[in-house]
Amino acid sequence: MATPMLIQDIAACDGQDVIIKGWLYNKTHKGKLVFMQVRDGTGIAQCVAFQKDLPPEQFEAARALTQESSIIITGRVRRDERAPGYPGGYEVGVTALEVIHEAEEYPISPKEHGVEFLMDNRHLWLRSSHQWAIIRIRATIIKAIRDWLDDHGYLLVDTPILTPAAGENTTTLFQIDYFGEPAFLAQTGQLYNEANMAAHGKVYCFGPTFRAEKSKTRRHLMEFWMVEPEMAFFSLDDLIAMEQEFIAYIVQTVLTTRRQELTILERDTTRLENIIPPFPRITYTEAVARLQKLAAETTDPELKESLQIEWGDDFGAPHETAIAGMFDKPVFVTHYPVEAKAFYMQPNEEDPGVVNCTDLLAPEGYGEITGGSERISDPALMAERVKTMGISEEAYRWYIDLSRYGSVPHAGFGLGVERMVAWICGLPHIRETIPYPRMLSRKYP
Ligand code: 4AD
Ligand code: MG
Repeated sequence: MATPMLIQDIAACDGQDVIIKGWLYNKTHKGKLVFMQVRDGTGIAQCVAFQKDLPPEQFEAARALTQESSIIITGRVRRDERAPGYPGGYEVGVTALEVIHEAEEYPISPKEHGVEFLMDNRHLWLRSSHQWAIIRIRATIIKAIRDWLDDHGYLLVDTPILTPAAGENTTTLFQIDYFGEPAFLAQTGQLYNEANMAAHGKVYCFGPTFRAEKSKTRRHLMEFWMVEPEMAFFSLDDLIAMEQEFIAYIVQTVLTTRRQELTILERDTTRLENIIPPFPRITYTEAVARLQKLAAETTDPELKESLQIEWGDDFGAPHETAIAGMFDKPVFVTHYPVEAKAFYMQPNEEDPGVVNCTDLLAPEGYGEITGGSERISDPALMAERVKTMGISEEAYRWYIDLSRYGSVPHAGFGLGVERMVAWICGLPHIRETIPYPRMLSRKYP
């Protein structure tokens, strides 16, 4: 009796008669043999149909099978170390083939296609092995995020997506009509997180966030997933200590559980193996000095131009890449100027011109992967900041309330899942890190 098998378990089924339900990924034939690469969502297996082993009409069906047709195959698993596939090393000698649906001519063939064409066919492109590997790594990253937080005493508390006011800044808001009143898609769950923190101590929210980013870059999406931990009685040092453990766990988990997928992506993993705490940290002021020195020393006029910066400016992509390039691990950049950051960040006691914040910059040019800070907890300072920043006291009344009832020092950060996926997978562009990317010039499919 043949029993159902998932291709990921093929090694455990050596010598057994199995049933595989899936799709034809690729096919070649040679006389009396048809080699079918069959995928079932968990892997790809080479299934060999030998004319004498199948009823004639089924062998003919195998020969005529079109790419991406859905099929059910019965056959016997045998060891063959040359057999391609994921995991590979085993093939299936086919004894029966049932065609469920014969696919029309498939638009994506193994030949090269332009990226816009592939993006237009994203709903189909997701079946290709590269995309398959990325989405599996993405799932592992999300699971690692949740596992680490759940195991370290953080409670998942959800925050709203439809909100009455900006969470981060007013320049990148998506506005919608909420029964005749304006509402906005959440840019962050942070402010609600701070309320939840006062109820539960250590919390996190994890969901989609929205930014109407008007510039076209390799690192920005309009819709991205962010995990945001928020902790009571945490200082900047506590935040950094926690973040590096958390990030290292995510990277190491992917390395141990997704080797095959990293190989499919041809990711050089030596740089990732090195991602263990402690991570280096420098101040914003030191980073600016290093950038200015690099700009002065370089003989490349384009680089020199792109590295121009004055104290007070926020970093652009070239600055982040240059700073990250000075280290072989992610680097914490701390204490940015007050003006460069959000209204809720805690000013430094000794130098009130900077805030107790940190961005984490990934190596290899992947840019900022986390942003976080200590939050203002003093009610008087909160009131003053709200006034000087021109923030609507009405819209933020509930948030200002938090500093009035048992306020505590606290800190938190946000990690962009897609930036993390891009870095770990080694992808030059963020568009492949999420199943259906929302970009400046794309919301289809
Ligand atoms: O630095 P950001 O804007 O921080 C916040 O939203 C804070 N409220 C988070 C917090 O402290 N709870 O965003 C955090 C991270 C960035 O470091 C980046 O990884 C990612 O979110 N991110 C984006 N990812 C993709 N596309 C975009 N447009 C992104 N904007 C931010
Ligand atoms: Mg940021």
